Amino acid sequence: MTVTATEFASRAAALDAADPLRDYPARFLGSDDPRIVAYLDGNSLGRPTRATSERISAFLAQDWGHRLIRRWDEEWFDLPLTLGDRLGAAVLGAATGQTTIGDSTTVLLYKLARGALTLRPGRTEIVVDRGNFPTDRYVLESIAADLGYTLRWLEPDLRAGVTAADLAEVVSERTALVALSHVAYRSGYLLDSPAVATVTHDAGALLLLDLCHSAGSVEIELDSWAVDFAVGCTYKYLNGGPGSPAFAYVAAAHLDEFVQPIWGWMGRDAPFEMAQGYRPAPGIRRVISGTPAILGMLPIQDTIDMIEEAGIRAIRAKSVALTEFALDVVRSWLVPRGVTVSSPLDPARRGGHVTIDHPTFQGMLPRLWERGVIPDFRGPAGLRLGPSPLSTTFTELLAGLAVIRDEFANP
Ligand SMILES: Cc1ncc(COP(=O)(O)O)c(C=O)c1O
Repeated sequence: MTVTATEFASRAAALDAADPLRDYPARFLGSDDPRIVAYLDGNSLGRPTRATSERISAFLAQDWGHRLIRRWDEEWFDLPLTLGDRLGAAVLGAATGQTTIGDSTTVLLYKLARGALTLRPGRTEIVVDRGNFPTDRYVLESIAADLGYTLRWLEPDLRAGVTAADLAEVVSERTALVALSHVAYRSGYLLDSPAVATVTHDAGALLLLDLCHSAGSVEIELDSWAVDFAVGCTYKYLNGGPGSPAFAYVAAAHLDEFVQPIWGWMGRDAPFEMAQGYRPAPGIRRVISGTPAILGMLPIQDTIDMIEEAGIRAIRAKSVALTEFALDVVRSWLVPRGVTVSSPLDPARRGGHVTIDHPTFQGMLPRLWERGVIPDFRGPAGLRLGPSPLSTTFTELLAGLAVIRDEFANP
């Protein structure tokens, strides 16, 4: 049954009024820009915060402009680790000393996967799935080609993701590493991480999770799920800005033995000795290779402030409410026009975004962007709707879906 625009508008208004996070959207730059009808790509590039604009000015004038090189000793040398610890506590369910910020997700995937393999000598297989993000697949293909490992491919349906039962069929005493995404970039499928960790460990293998699409929108408990390694980016729900540095997690149990392959001076024990020969720094610092991107770490701090304040549980609750509302509107307005839903309908198995499919979406996207409605497109025919719980309102989400409906009526 088609629900009218007026009915949905009053539902959206009621949801916004009752939203415990209703004050957060105004904290983002551009939230009052009338040219943006609906920003629905917070799962690709988060909006900047107003606090970040102030932080960057203060950084230029004071930290960099006045303290100059002294700031390395005062703060920056430890910033990847102190910020990593804050991210670990607020977002990752990780105790201190296991998380660092730096490099890109791609580079960290390489460093962690290579380092992980050396912890399982004699094993020859890496398990990965065809639905994983391209960079994850390519990095593992490169490592396998380089070191002579065999990739065991899982082939989940495009609309779904890997289950623990799927995984149990391919792991064996040959498996060294299982590398999966926590939330699938296309379907939004949310992995049952504790179950997958159990299957992985029962086979004696190690688990590496990509958290790009879950960090900042879904509850994560790396320590209690017994995940071995994790990486993720900070430019999506963590609003770090284009190309902001990624994060890496290495479980404390592995830190003494773990060695990554890019030996640089900043990850060496006592780097300022400038000594001959590489000796990994104690603890998580050994993941670092060269000089960390301090400028790129500024915006993340403002999002961590907000997550500490709001709590990830409330953020996930809002995210579920947003995607449930989007699906209701899609069912009423777009499914009758031939649109199909390619994301799990069960919110417990769905991350923060929803993908809908229709053959016209690729052609429609430039018109949507022109009209200030900004989702993104993922082939073969998917429009990804990625509301960000801290910055998106229900009214904004509805306004975006109304324009999509209008595109069907007046193409
Ligand atoms: C699951 C996943 N992994 C990795 C990346 C990208 O990695 P990088 O930041 O190195 O480009 C993305 C980017 O969207 C992603 O969604």
